[in-house]
Amino acid sequence: MEYAKDEIERVLVSNEEIQQRLDCLAERINADYAGKDLLVVCILKGAVAVFADVLRRIRIPCAIDFMAISSYGSSTKSSGVVRILKDLDHGIEGKHVLIVEDIVDSGMSMSYLLDNLKTRNPASVRILTLLDKPERRRVELKADYIGFTIPDEFVVGYGLDYAERYRNLPDVCVLSPKMYS
Ligand code: PRP
Repeated sequence: MEYAKDEIERVLVSNEEIQQRLDCLAERINADYAGKDLLVVCILKGAVAVFADVLRRIRIPCAIDFMAISSYGSSTKSSGVVRILKDLDHGIEGKHVLIVEDIVDSGMSMSYLLDNLKTRNPASVRILTLLDKPERRRVELKADYIGFTIPDEFVVGYGLDYAERYRNLPDVCVLSPKMYS
């Protein structure tokens, strides 16, 4: 897809590459969770696209739920403050929980969420993230299923935003620094 050059610097991961990678990850998920009581949790809002695409590849019985957390405000740097804006609708005791995220950056959001969910006595909690930015980590955190490891550039599209824009782009793109500097 063609993007406005003054807003989007370049495509980092194309939708086609994303779909191919999700095929591989879903194959592993289908094998790893066979026969288990699986709950797939979408972390709003950034994960909506990857969640919908992963979900449609899961071939074993599962339930879904949604959670909204906030760490960023509207800047490009993580504040380190994590708030639960919307909690899960149901308890997770005894369930195998697969959290679906768009990006692990500082790791603060996921670290907080893992600690929080583990107090609710699930059978297991694992993380799937489309994107991983290890250079920016501030806490030790490793996702179980990683789509793409990316460099420290500000990315938007395929669910990811800058000030609530660009979530609708089909590809993961590098935002032009002009847009936020
Ligand atoms: C983004 C992203 C992760 C988090 C990652 O969410 O979806 O939840 O930041 O950053 P971290 O590893 O530094 O904690 P954001 O708060 O921007 O909300 P959104 O998903 O609604 O865009």
